[in-house]
Amino acid sequence: MNILLSAVGYWLTCKLISLCGEMFVRANLFGVDLCKGTGVKIPESQGVLCGVVFLVIMFLFIPIPFIEYFTNRGTFTFPFHVYVEFLAALLSICCMVFLGFADDVFDLKWRHKLLLPTIASLPLLMVYLVTFDLTIIIIPAPFRSLLGYSINIGCLYYIYMGMLAVFCTNAINIVAGINGIEVGQSLVISASVIVFNCIEMSGEYSEAHLFSLYFMLPFFAVSLALYQYNKYPARVFVGDTFCYFSGMAFAVVAILGHFSKTMLLFFIPQVINFLYSVPQLFRFVPCPRHRLPKFNPKLNKLELSYSRFKPTELTKLGRIILKIASIFKLVHFRKVTVKDCEYEECNNLTIINFFLLIFGPTHEKTLTNRILLFQIVCSVIALFIRYPLARLFYDV
Ligand code: UD1
Ligand code: MG
Repeated sequence: MNILLSAVGYWLTCKLISLCGEMFVRANLFGVDLCKGTGVKIPESQGVLCGVVFLVIMFLFIPIPFIEYFTNRGTFTFPFHVYVEFLAALLSICCMVFLGFADDVFDLKWRHKLLLPTIASLPLLMVYLVTFDLTIIIIPAPFRSLLGYSINIGCLYYIYMGMLAVFCTNAINIVAGINGIEVGQSLVISASVIVFNCIEMSGEYSEAHLFSLYFMLPFFAVSLALYQYNKYPARVFVGDTFCYFSGMAFAVVAILGHFSKTMLLFFIPQVINFLYSVPQLFRFVPCPRHRLPKFNPKLNKLELSYSRFKPTELTKLGRIILKIASIFKLVHFRKVTVKDCEYEECNNLTIINFFLLIFGPTHEKTLTNRILLFQIVCSVIALFIRYPLARLFYDV
């Protein structure tokens, strides 16, 4: 039933995106493709259509897992804890779609971008508290003689889960700016989660993994529909709405499916991008509004984009970081003179620019495909870490 509804969701999302484009442009929800130089208005925030179709599908699906109860009323008690998890998960995702859309409309500041997912994850954490409330972490085997088998970290566990939601939503939003990348990475991550859930279906926690599948299959379907329109050359943009929606969908299944560490393994490229971005995100190095690559119309390729600043604008820590990173050839740091003024430049610190640093100017489509291929390779590595390697450290 879930697969059937997902197929309907795919079809409905395609239909809605093709029908609503002009409506979004008229409502001023459009963007200009900065990597093309055409200046055409492209409908933005199409993630809201994905989000709406996803929620409709899930609302229609809610009774299905409980069908046995309705057909054999009175034989067994209604599993309220599962039902409440379902509703809280949908509430958090719904909140995030709404807040993401608000971000697209009002172009919020970065501090709000951190606050919004925290607030949207509260219903989820509340349900975790009343249904599961397990805040124990298992210590890896080599450290057990020192720390014991497990530690109860109490409220720190809730802080960790709140931060997971903040990380998932923003991590996807900052690997962005080239056609198909936001939704492409979400497709790879959701496909990896689906594979992981299917493997675990024969295990001890099959119920939690089935719960995750109920969310991930429709998510994959609606995202695939959006990808058809967002891939090179993009006919629509996904907007922050999609990034938030997708990040929250992952956080929800990771928290309620109890596999947050494995989920983080599927986010390896996003973790690398975050770590590489830290000097700009925390303003040790000046950060422009857009860090996407620069379009070279002569070559029809994308090149490194730079952050330009006066030497005095760079913090001491920023200078040390850039010096070390340029010794290891991780950044391109240079001095330039413009109209008799001395400036310094370093490439914008994103994984997308890092690929350009390694491979040189690249066509946009090739660049997206390379990054998505890297994401797939990382998922394979993640599964390797999760299974053969984890057995060395945990009793799995
Ligand atoms: C994030 C990134 C920013 C990047 C932007 C691109 C950080 C801290 N922020 O900001 O560096 O430039 O995403 O999405 O890393 N666009 C394209 N081609 C695409 C997708 C988007 O040109 O394939 C442009 C369009 O003009 C679109 C705009 O990016 O209107 C959307 O940017 P937005 O999502 O608002 O940027 P942020 O998420 O704030
Ligand atoms: Mg964005």
